[in-house]
Amino acid sequence: MAAEPVILDCDPGFDDAVAILLALACPEAIDLVAITTVAGNVGVAQTARNAGVVVALAGKTTPVHAGCPRPLVRAPHDAADIHGADGMAGAVLPAATRPAEAEHAVDFLRRRLRAAPPASITVCAVAPLTNLAAAVVQEPAVVRAVRRLVLMGGAIGLGNVTPAAEFNLFADPHAARVVFGAGWPIVMLPLELTHQAVTTPARLAAIAALDTAAARTVAQMIRGYPEAARARRGGVPLHDACAVAYLVWPELMSGRHVRVDIVTEGEAAGRTLVDWHHPGDAALPLVLERIDADGFFARLIEALGRLRG
Ligand code: BDR
Ligand code: CA
Repeated sequence: MAAEPVILDCDPGFDDAVAILLALACPEAIDLVAITTVAGNVGVAQTARNAGVVVALAGKTTPVHAGCPRPLVRAPHDAADIHGADGMAGAVLPAATRPAEAEHAVDFLRRRLRAAPPASITVCAVAPLTNLAAAVVQEPAVVRAVRRLVLMGGAIGLGNVTPAAEFNLFADPHAARVVFGAGWPIVMLPLELTHQAVTTPARLAAIAALDTAAARTVAQMIRGYPEAARARRGGVPLHDACAVAYLVWPELMSGRHVRVDIVTEGEAAGRTLVDWHHPGDAALPLVLERIDADGFFARLIEALGRLRG
């Protein structure tokens, strides 16, 4: 089967960086058309720079488009406390080999999706959903070209920024409301799933033992993760890499088609209201809840091992 054309919308962010590397390591499954970046873990200029560096680390030339510098309505909220001021947990990185494209990410999304046949491109979003919401509001017809939107964000229960909200949804709940209401098929990977995918000491040792620049950088970033946050879960959750893994190895995950709504205002802003106990038909978002974490890490480590820059 031909590789699936994918646009990856992200905010690197160390787990975004692993997501990019995994996508680039699986060309038989993923044809990475472009990377779009947004303000999230750090500012948008930095997320675009980081994406370019990660592409260079993998020895590839995938174009990077910088997008929205702030959320639609809320004041910006970053995660530099977790990802470091540079967004890459202080890892020592090469320079990007090509600069970000001049075209804004939202213009790129509109142009690329407008020209594409119906249901022909997958969007994988692992960041605040500002770019996607802006594209949909400016040009609702872009939805038609999207085969599926696979996104890391939200939670069935507890959030990780507030008791109610996960970071990507907390950072721009109004964008999330637009995106969840846009009418494209959605697959959502909430915290319940990604918190299963943690880099235990044994998994980190297996990554660090690989003899590639990409794997060495991933190990450095994992080691740069704040100790207190690592202690909470026995390792670092690779949230965003799970979303890319779903595109390549969907058999590792399972979930239910359920109604999802977004709280946009008040103390619970950014909460995903997931109607978990009333599964419905395939037109509802597929919310994934379980991952075979051993299978995921075995395949991720194998993929990182063959990524030679
Ligand atoms: C999400 O928030 C970001 O900090 C991570 O990159 C991930 O996309 C996890 O809540
Ligand atoms: Ca992210």
